[in-house]
Amino acid sequence: MKDIYIEEFNKLKTEVESCRKCALHESRNKIVFGNGSTDSKIFIIGEGPGYDEDKTGVAFVGKSGQLLEKIFQACGFERNKHIYIGNIVKCRPPQNRVPTIDEQRECLPYLEKQIELIDPKILVLLGSTALKAFFGLQSKITKERGQWKIYNNRYVMPTFHPSALLRNPSLKREAWEDFKMVIQKYREVVDAEHKCKYI
Ligand code: URA
Repeated sequence: MKDIYIEEFNKLKTEVESCRKCALHESRNKIVFGNGSTDSKIFIIGEGPGYDEDKTGVAFVGKSGQLLEKIFQACGFERNKHIYIGNIVKCRPPQNRVPTIDEQRECLPYLEKQIELIDPKILVLLGSTALKAFFGLQSKITKERGQWKIYNNRYVMPTFHPSALLRNPSLKREAWEDFKMVIQKYREVVDAEHKCKYI
């Protein structure tokens, strides 16, 4: 991230920490602003914090996060170097329910600002909620995964949420195909020399 944006980024985080725009603030322990490298060219977007994320304030540290970590390793991506990771909403929805449209609408401008400041080339949308938040409620993850889309001049790859892969391991094969496309795009638009032991 350019130096001139760092202050703005930190200010945004402070703003989110005291956000009360929707009812999710009432039950949160910690906001989950997002984690990883602000120099990253890949921004991964999930749905919202779960139990572990709400306790720690760190995105994707629970079971889904552990699976995602394995996927990143297979891709040759390090979380603190190649990746920034965040969610559609920054506070945990009670019982991990899907965030409502109103909750998403209140929270999305924060994510949009993060994307603008980090300026990634590639967005990876994990699951239906993230896909719909960017491309509309009619979107279907089962249909649209594995196909590049464009959002504000950035390449976007929708794929399954890791929690879907945990529930249904047979989806892992397709998810790996999607991440292989991300590796190829990364080589094409960011670093032609990017190393990955599988492709
Ligand atoms: N699931 C998400 O969508 N985001 C997290 O941060 C953790 C689990």
